[in-house]
Amino acid sequence: MRTAIIEGDGIGKEVIPEAVSILDYFNETYHWGVEKVPVEVGLGKWERTGSAITDEDITLLKSCDLILFGAITTVNDPSYKSVLLRIRKELDLYANIRPILPVPGVYKLLKIKDRKEADVNIVIVRENSEGLYSGIEEIGDEKSTTLRVVTKKASERIAAIASDLAAERKNSLTVVHKSNVLKSDKLFLDTCKQVAESKGVNVSDKLVDFFAYDLIMSPEKYDVVVTTNLFGDILSDLGAILLGSIGLAPSANIGDKQAFFEPVHGSAPDIAGKGIANPIAAILSLKMMFDRRGKKREAGLINRAVSAAIHDKIVTPDLSGKYSTKEVGAFILSKVRQYDAASFCLEDPDGLL
Ligand code: IPM
Ligand code: MG
Repeated sequence: MRTAIIEGDGIGKEVIPEAVSILDYFNETYHWGVEKVPVEVGLGKWERTGSAITDEDITLLKSCDLILFGAITTVNDPSYKSVLLRIRKELDLYANIRPILPVPGVYKLLKIKDRKEADVNIVIVRENSEGLYSGIEEIGDEKSTTLRVVTKKASERIAAIASDLAAERKNSLTVVHKSNVLKSDKLFLDTCKQVAESKGVNVSDKLVDFFAYDLIMSPEKYDVVVTTNLFGDILSDLGAILLGSIGLAPSANIGDKQAFFEPVHGSAPDIAGKGIANPIAAILSLKMMFDRRGKKREAGLINRAVSAAIHDKIVTPDLSGKYSTKEVGAFILSKVRQYDAASFCLEDPDGLL
Protein backbone atom coordinates (compact mmCIF):
# COMPACT_ATOMS: atom_id res chain seq x y z
CA MET A 1 0.00 0.00 0.00
CA ARG A 2 1.61 3.25 -1.13
CA THR A 3 0.99 6.20 1.17
CA ALA A 4 2.17 9.64 0.11
CA ILE A 5 3.39 11.90 2.87
CA ILE A 6 3.20 15.63 2.17
CA GLU A 7 4.40 17.77 5.03
CA GLY A 8 4.06 21.00 3.04
CA ASP A 9 4.88 24.35 4.61
CA GLY A 10 4.78 26.04 8.01
CA ILE A 11 3.35 23.92 10.80
CA GLY A 12 2.65 21.13 8.30
CA LYS A 13 6.33 20.25 8.72
CA GLU A 14 5.87 20.05 12.49
CA VAL A 15 2.58 18.18 12.86
CA ILE A 16 2.89 15.56 10.13
CA PRO A 17 6.02 13.88 11.61
CA GLU A 18 4.04 13.28 14.81
CA ALA A 19 1.31 11.46 12.88
CA VAL A 20 3.89 9.58 10.82
CA SER A 21 5.60 8.21 13.93
CA ILE A 22 2.29 6.58 14.90
CA LEU A 23 1.88 5.18 11.39
CA ASP A 24 5.47 3.86 11.59
CA TYR A 25 4.78 2.20 14.90
CA PHE A 26 1.84 0.18 13.56
CA ASN A 27 3.50 -0.48 10.22
CA GLU A 28 6.61 -1.90 11.90
CA THR A 29 4.82 -3.77 14.68
CA TYR A 30 2.23 -5.43 12.47
CA HIS A 31 4.13 -5.59 9.17
CA TRP A 32 1.43 -3.75 7.29
CA GLY A 33 3.70 -3.19 4.31
CA VAL A 34 2.91 0.50 4.03
CA GLU A 35 5.34 2.10 1.60
CA LYS A 36 5.78 5.75 2.48
CA VAL A 37 6.31 8.07 -0.46
CA PRO A 38 7.50 11.54 0.57
CA VAL A 39 6.27 14.21 -1.84
CA GLU A 40 7.55 17.77 -1.67
CA VAL A 41 5.11 20.39 -2.88
CA GLY A 42 4.19 23.91 -1.78
CA LEU A 43 5.65 27.32 -1.21
CA GLY A 44 9.06 26.03 -0.12
CA LYS A 45 9.39 24.14 -3.38
CA TRP A 46 8.15 27.16 -5.35
CA GLU A 47 10.80 29.38 -3.79
CA ARG A 48 13.48 26.81 -4.47
CA THR A 49 12.50 25.65 -7.96
CA GLY A 50 9.92 28.12 -9.27
CA SER A 51 7.22 25.46 -9.25
CA ALA A 52 4.96 24.60 -6.28
CA ILE A 53 3.81 21.32 -7.79
CA THR A 54 4.80 19.60 -11.01
CA ASP A 55 3.06 17.15 -13.35
CA GLU A 56 5.46 14.50 -12.01
CA ASP A 57 4.25 15.19 -8.47
CA ILE A 58 0.67 14.64 -9.63
CA THR A 59 1.66 11.38 -11.35
CA LEU A 60 3.41 10.28 -8.16
CA LEU A 61 0.35 11.11 -6.06
CA LYS A 62 -1.87 9.21 -8.48
CA SER A 63 0.32 6.16 -7.92
CA CYS A 64 -0.49 6.23 -4.18
CA ASP A 65 -3.67 4.91 -2.56
CA LEU A 66 -3.58 7.21 0.42
CA ILE A 67 -2.15 10.65 1.06
CA LEU A 68 -1.37 12.25 4.41
CA PHE A 69 -1.06 16.00 4.02
CA GLY A 70 -0.02 18.78 6.42
CA ALA A 71 -0.63 22.29 5.12
CA ILE A 72 0.58 24.58 2.40
CA THR A 73 1.09 28.34 2.34
CA THR A 74 -0.52 30.08 -0.62
CA VAL A 75 1.02 33.42 -1.51
CA ASN A 76 -0.76 36.27 -3.19
CA ASP A 77 1.20 36.08 -6.42
CA PRO A 78 -0.73 35.73 -9.68
CA SER A 79 1.66 33.00 -10.82
CA TYR A 80 1.10 30.93 -7.65
CA LYS A 81 -1.92 28.60 -7.83
CA SER A 82 -3.24 26.69 -4.84
CA VAL A 83 -1.50 23.31 -4.67
CA LEU A 84 -4.24 21.82 -2.56
CA LEU A 85 -6.93 22.78 -5.05
CA ARG A 86 -4.90 21.34 -7.91
CA ILE A 87 -4.47 18.04 -6.08
CA ARG A 88 -8.19 17.87 -5.24
CA LYS A 89 -9.06 18.56 -8.86
CA GLU A 90 -6.55 16.28 -10.57
CA LEU A 91 -7.30 13.36 -8.27
CA ASP A 92 -11.02 14.17 -8.32
CA LEU A 93 -11.29 14.11 -4.53
CA TYR A 94 -14.89 15.19 -4.62
CA ALA A 95 -16.05 14.54 -1.06
CA ASN A 96 -14.60 16.49 1.83
CA ILE A 97 -15.56 14.85 5.11
CA ARG A 98 -15.15 17.07 8.15
CA PRO A 99 -16.27 15.62 11.47
CA ILE A 100 -17.15 17.91 14.36
CA LEU A 101 -16.71 15.57 17.28
CA PRO A 102 -15.07 16.88 20.44
CA VAL A 103 -12.21 14.90 21.95
CA PRO A 104 -13.60 13.57 25.25
CA GLY A 105 -12.51 15.76 28.15
CA VAL A 106 -11.77 18.87 26.12
CA TYR A 107 -14.72 20.90 27.45
CA LYS A 108 -13.62 20.19 30.99
CA LEU A 109 -10.04 21.15 30.12
CA LEU A 110 -11.15 24.44 28.57
CA LYS A 111 -13.85 25.05 31.18
CA ILE A 112 -16.57 25.20 28.53
CA LYS A 113 -19.78 25.06 30.53
CA ASP A 114 -22.42 26.39 28.16
CA ARG A 115 -22.58 23.23 26.07
CA LYS A 116 -22.10 19.48 26.49
CA GLU A 117 -19.73 17.27 24.52
CA ALA A 118 -22.45 14.69 24.15
CA ASP A 119 -24.50 17.20 22.16
CA VAL A 120 -21.89 17.60 19.46
CA ASN A 121 -21.42 14.84 16.90
CA ILE A 122 -21.77 16.26 13.41
CA VAL A 123 -20.18 15.46 10.08
CA ILE A 124 -19.96 18.14 7.43
CA VAL A 125 -19.88 16.60 3.97
CA ARG A 126 -18.55 19.32 1.71
CA GLU A 127 -18.86 19.14 -2.08
CA ASN A 128 -15.24 19.52 -3.09
CA SER A 129 -15.11 19.82 -6.86
CA GLU A 130 -17.20 22.75 -8.03
CA GLY A 131 -19.37 25.62 -6.69
CA LEU A 132 -17.40 28.82 -6.19
CA TYR A 133 -14.20 26.78 -6.47
CA SER A 134 -14.82 26.15 -10.18
CA GLY A 135 -11.68 28.13 -11.03
CA ILE A 136 -13.59 29.81 -13.84
CA GLU A 137 -12.81 33.48 -13.33
CA GLU A 138 -12.41 36.71 -15.23
CA ILE A 139 -10.33 39.16 -13.32
CA GLY A 140 -10.30 42.81 -14.35
CA ASP A 141 -9.65 46.21 -12.83
CA GLU A 142 -13.28 47.31 -13.01
CA LYS A 143 -15.03 43.99 -12.77
CA SER A 144 -14.07 40.52 -11.62
CA THR A 145 -16.27 37.46 -11.75
CA THR A 146 -16.08 33.90 -10.46
CA LEU A 147 -18.47 31.39 -11.90
CA ARG A 148 -20.38 29.29 -9.39
CA VAL A 149 -20.99 25.90 -10.95
CA VAL A 150 -23.50 23.36 -9.65
CA THR A 151 -24.02 20.20 -11.68
CA LYS A 152 -26.49 17.42 -11.16
CA LYS A 153 -23.74 14.81 -11.46
CA ALA A 154 -21.55 16.34 -8.73
CA SER A 155 -24.57 17.00 -6.52
CA GLU A 156 -25.69 13.38 -6.92
CA ARG A 157 -22.36 11.88 -5.99
CA ILE A 158 -21.88 14.04 -2.90
CA ALA A 159 -25.49 13.42 -1.86
CA ALA A 160 -24.91 9.68 -2.21
CA ILE A 161 -21.85 9.78 0.08
CA ALA A 162 -23.68 11.96 2.62
CA SER A 163 -26.81 9.79 2.54
CA ASP A 164 -24.84 6.56 2.99
CA LEU A 165 -23.04 8.11 5.95
CA ALA A 166 -26.35 9.31 7.40
CA ALA A 167 -27.81 5.80 7.00
CA GLU A 168 -24.94 4.38 9.10
CA ARG A 169 -25.56 6.99 11.78
CA LYS A 170 -28.90 8.51 12.80
CA ASN A 171 -30.45 8.42 9.33
CA SER A 172 -30.80 12.17 9.33
CA LEU A 173 -29.37 14.48 6.66
CA THR A 174 -29.49 18.28 6.53
CA VAL A 175 -28.88 20.03 3.23
CA VAL A 176 -27.38 23.50 3.75
CA HIS A 177 -27.83 25.96 0.89
CA LYS A 178 -28.84 29.49 -0.12
CA SER A 179 -31.42 28.71 -2.77
CA ASN A 180 -33.55 31.74 -1.88
CA VAL A 181 -30.87 33.89 -3.49
CA LEU A 182 -28.62 31.58 -5.49
CA LYS A 183 -30.79 29.76 -7.95
CA SER A 184 -27.89 27.39 -8.66
CA ASP A 185 -28.46 26.04 -5.18
CA LYS A 186 -31.97 24.90 -6.07
CA LEU A 187 -30.42 22.19 -8.25
CA PHE A 188 -28.13 21.20 -5.38
CA LEU A 189 -30.98 21.11 -2.88
CA ASP A 190 -33.42 19.23 -5.09
CA THR A 191 -30.80 16.67 -6.13
CA CYS A 192 -29.66 16.05 -2.55
CA LYS A 193 -33.26 15.58 -1.43
CA GLN A 194 -34.02 13.16 -4.24
CA VAL A 195 -30.93 11.05 -3.57
CA ALA A 196 -31.52 10.98 0.19
CA GLU A 197 -35.18 10.02 -0.24
CA SER A 198 -34.30 7.28 -2.73
CA LYS A 199 -32.00 5.82 -0.06
CA GLY A 200 -34.63 6.08 2.66
CA VAL A 201 -32.76 8.78 4.61
CA ASN A 202 -34.71 11.48 6.47
CA VAL A 203 -33.76 14.74 4.86
CA SER A 204 -34.39 18.37 5.76
CA ASP A 205 -32.74 21.61 4.73
CA LYS A 206 -31.58 24.91 6.16
CA LEU A 207 -30.49 28.22 4.70
CA VAL A 208 -26.79 28.68 5.31
CA ASP A 209 -27.03 31.93 7.28
CA PHE A 210 -29.50 30.51 9.77
CA PHE A 211 -27.57 27.24 9.87
CA ALA A 212 -24.34 29.07 10.82
CA TYR A 213 -26.14 30.49 13.85
CA ASP A 214 -27.93 27.28 14.74
CA LEU A 215 -24.82 25.12 14.40
CA ILE A 216 -23.26 26.97 17.30
CA MET A 217 -26.46 27.54 19.30
CA SER A 218 -28.05 24.10 18.91
CA PRO A 219 -25.51 21.58 17.60
CA GLU A 220 -27.54 18.71 19.05
CA LYS A 221 -30.08 19.23 16.24
CA TYR A 222 -27.63 18.12 13.53
CA ASP A 223 -25.97 14.92 12.47
CA VAL A 224 -24.84 14.65 8.82
CA VAL A 225 -24.79 17.92 6.90
CA VAL A 226 -24.21 18.19 3.16
CA THR A 227 -23.36 21.49 1.52
CA THR A 228 -21.63 23.20 -1.37
CA ASN A 229 -17.92 23.93 -1.53
CA LEU A 230 -17.50 27.43 -0.07
CA PHE A 231 -20.23 27.02 2.54
CA GLY A 232 -18.54 23.79 3.65
CA ASP A 233 -15.20 25.57 3.85
CA ILE A 234 -16.57 28.30 6.09
CA LEU A 235 -18.86 26.14 8.19
CA SER A 236 -16.10 23.65 9.00
CA ASP A 237 -13.89 26.40 10.45
CA LEU A 238 -16.90 27.76 12.31
CA GLY A 239 -17.79 24.29 13.57
CA ALA A 240 -14.26 23.94 14.99
CA ILE A 241 -15.46 26.32 17.74
CA LEU A 242 -17.47 23.34 18.99
CA LEU A 243 -14.22 21.37 19.24
CA GLY A 244 -12.48 23.92 21.43
CA SER A 245 -9.64 24.50 18.95
CA ILE A 246 -9.16 24.25 15.21
CA GLY A 247 -6.05 22.32 16.18
CA LEU A 248 -8.36 19.37 16.90
CA ALA A 249 -10.16 19.25 13.53
CA PRO A 250 -9.23 16.48 11.08
CA SER A 251 -10.61 15.88 7.59
CA ALA A 252 -10.65 13.52 4.65
CA ASN A 253 -10.94 14.23 0.94
CA ILE A 254 -12.32 11.18 -0.80
CA GLY A 255 -12.32 10.25 -4.48
CA ASP A 256 -13.14 7.02 -6.25
CA LYS A 257 -9.46 6.03 -6.45
CA GLN A 258 -7.57 7.89 -3.74
CA ALA A 259 -8.21 9.28 -0.30
CA PHE A 260 -6.37 12.25 1.12
CA PHE A 261 -6.25 13.15 4.82
CA GLU A 262 -5.42 16.57 6.23
CA PRO A 263 -5.94 18.71 9.31
CA VAL A 264 -8.50 21.46 8.69
CA HIS A 265 -6.03 24.11 9.90
CA GLY A 266 -3.61 25.81 7.54
CA SER A 267 0.17 26.30 7.61
CA ALA A 268 -0.11 29.03 10.32
CA PRO A 269 2.97 31.10 9.40
CA ASP A 270 2.47 33.14 12.61
CA ILE A 271 3.39 30.19 14.82
CA ALA A 272 5.48 28.13 12.39
CA GLY A 273 8.93 27.21 13.67
CA LYS A 274 8.00 27.75 17.30
CA GLY A 275 7.22 24.09 17.96
CA ILE A 276 3.86 24.88 19.53
CA ALA A 277 1.40 23.73 16.86
CA ASN A 278 -1.16 21.21 18.03
CA PRO A 279 -0.40 17.85 16.35
CA ILE A 280 -3.79 16.33 17.27
CA ALA A 281 -5.64 17.37 14.08
CA ALA A 282 -2.93 15.65 12.02
CA ILE A 283 -3.00 12.58 14.28
CA LEU A 284 -6.81 12.39 14.04
CA SER A 285 -6.47 12.72 10.25
CA LEU A 286 -4.29 9.60 10.40
CA LYS A 287 -7.04 8.01 12.48
CA MET A 288 -9.51 8.77 9.70
CA MET A 289 -7.09 7.09 7.29
CA PHE A 290 -7.11 4.00 9.48
CA ASP A 291 -10.92 4.05 9.55
CA ARG A 292 -10.94 4.22 5.79
CA ARG A 293 -8.67 1.17 5.62
CA GLY A 294 -10.79 -0.78 8.09
CA LYS A 295 -8.15 -0.54 10.83
CA LYS A 296 -10.82 0.02 13.44
CA ARG A 297 -8.86 -1.23 16.41
CA GLU A 298 -5.87 0.97 15.65
CA ALA A 299 -8.17 3.96 15.04
CA GLY A 300 -9.75 3.29 18.43
CA LEU A 301 -6.31 3.18 20.08
CA ILE A 302 -5.48 6.58 18.60
CA ASN A 303 -8.76 8.03 19.86
CA ARG A 304 -8.08 6.75 23.31
CA ALA A 305 -4.48 8.00 23.33
CA VAL A 306 -5.58 11.47 22.21
CA SER A 307 -8.18 11.57 24.98
CA ALA A 308 -5.45 10.63 27.45
CA ALA A 309 -3.39 13.66 26.35
CA ILE A 310 -6.40 15.89 26.97
CA HIS A 311 -7.17 14.22 30.27
CA ASP A 312 -3.56 14.49 31.50
CA LYS A 313 -3.32 18.07 30.18
CA ILE A 314 -0.37 17.24 27.93
CA VAL A 315 -1.47 19.87 25.43
CA THR A 316 -0.20 22.77 23.33
CA PRO A 317 -0.91 26.48 24.02
CA ASP A 318 -4.07 26.59 21.85
CA LEU A 319 -5.55 24.36 24.57
CA SER A 320 -4.00 26.44 27.35
CA GLY A 321 -1.13 24.00 27.79
CA LYS A 322 2.61 24.52 27.89
CA TYR A 323 3.75 21.48 25.94
CA SER A 324 5.41 21.45 22.55
CA THR A 325 4.24 19.75 19.37
CA LYS A 326 6.90 17.07 19.86
CA GLU A 327 6.06 16.47 23.51
CA VAL A 328 2.36 16.05 22.76
CA GLY A 329 3.15 13.76 19.80
CA ALA A 330 5.54 11.66 21.89
CA PHE A 331 2.99 11.35 24.70
CA ILE A 332 0.25 10.21 22.32
CA LEU A 333 2.60 7.68 20.71
CA SER A 334 3.58 6.34 24.14
CA LYS A 335 -0.10 5.90 25.02
CA VAL A 336 -0.79 4.18 21.69
CA ARG A 337 2.01 1.71 22.45
CA GLN A 338 0.84 1.20 26.01
CA TYR A 339 -2.79 0.57 25.06
CA ASP A 340 -1.77 -1.61 22.16
CA ALA A 341 0.46 -3.73 24.38
CA ALA A 342 -2.34 -4.01 26.94
CA SER A 343 -4.45 -5.40 24.08
CA PHE A 344 -7.26 -2.98 24.43
CA CYS A 345 -9.71 -4.19 21.88
CA LEU A 346 -11.71 -1.09 21.35
CA GLU A 347 -13.34 -0.53 18.04
CA ASP A 348 -13.41 3.09 17.06
CA PRO A 349 -17.01 3.95 17.88
CA ASP A 350 -17.00 6.94 15.59
CA GLY A 351 -15.43 5.38 12.53
CA LEU A 352 -16.70 7.54 9.74
CA LEU A 353 -15.29 6.10 6.63
C1 IPM B 1 -9.54 24.11 3.44
C2 IPM B 1 -8.71 25.29 3.01
C3 IPM B 1 -8.60 25.31 1.49
C4 IPM B 1 -9.98 25.46 0.93
C5 IPM B 1 -7.63 26.36 0.94
C6 IPM B 1 -6.28 26.26 1.56
C7 IPM B 1 -7.53 26.29 -0.56
O1 IPM B 1 -9.24 26.46 3.51
O2 IPM B 1 -9.15 22.95 3.14
O3 IPM B 1 -10.57 24.31 4.07
O4 IPM B 1 -10.45 26.59 0.72
O5 IPM B 1 -10.61 24.45 0.65
MG1 MG C 1 -10.85 26.14 4.86
